[in-house]
Amino acid sequence: MKNLYQKIAKDYDSIYHWKNYGNDVMILERFFSKFGIKVRHILDVACGTGNHDLLLARKGYNITGIDLTTEMLSIARNKVINGDFQKSDMKNFALGRRFDAVICLFSSISHNVDLIELDKTLENFYSHLKPNGICIFDTWMLKNNFRKGLEMVDFTDEGLEIIPFGRTKGYDRVRRRSDSIYLIKKKGKSEFCINSVGFFLSSEVLAAMRKVGFVSSQHVVPLEDIYGSKVAKIVERKFFVGIKV
Ligand SMILES: C[S@@+](CC[C@H](N)C(=O)[O-])C[C@H]1O[C@@H](n2cnc3c(N)ncnc32)[C@H](O)[C@@H]1O
Repeated sequence: MKNLYQKIAKDYDSIYHWKNYGNDVMILERFFSKFGIKVRHILDVACGTGNHDLLLARKGYNITGIDLTTEMLSIARNKVINGDFQKSDMKNFALGRRFDAVICLFSSISHNVDLIELDKTLENFYSHLKPNGICIFDTWMLKNNFRKGLEMVDFTDEGLEIIPFGRTKGYDRVRRRSDSIYLIKKKGKSEFCINSVGFFLSSEVLAAMRKVGFVSSQHVVPLEDIYGSKVAKIVERKFFVGIKV
């Protein structure tokens, strides 16, 4: 079965047309200045179709992006002409160079489905940073936010629908993992795909960051209200910031 992003890459920008990438870039720059980090070279992990990268490149940052999904990377390459995009798994990559900032946005960190994977990913973030570099990632897929039956349906105006169809194992409380099956409907055709995410406690994320050497902190930022005020009210979006001292 294909993974979700292979299936939706071409429609990704249309599905998330409401997302305010400019606001995220503003939040990133606020963290750069709050922590006094001079940033020029940015590594965007799980860069997707390069929406943050386009805005960051326009502001003069030098961009490298990695992602696991070839189909998402091709769109990023066409969009951000002066970016450098490579296929890599966040749990296992070595680019042979270090950056001023490593970012990983839109809950992409949650593609680590257990604490062992999270540790490996954070080690990679750390080793790809220069001393005094900054690592910033966000997620709303935190254990406190997990609600049975709370599903978000994504769609495009062109008639694509991503319908949560069922969870293969429900939510595995020990491993923190949730595997979901989605039914993707487009132009009369339907296909299943799978997406797996990890729901961690904020304290576990902060501890994992400290374990690899980061000075870590968390910051609550309101979730975009697109899924409806009911969801926005109960779901907290957090940014985690790590400084390599
Ligand atoms: C929700 S999208 C976010 C994309 C982009 N950061 C954004 O804000 O639009 C999640 C991305 O994570 C990528 N991804 C999933 N697992 C990954 C992994 N192990 N390593 C690198 N990228 C991964 C997917 O291919 C997808 O592009």
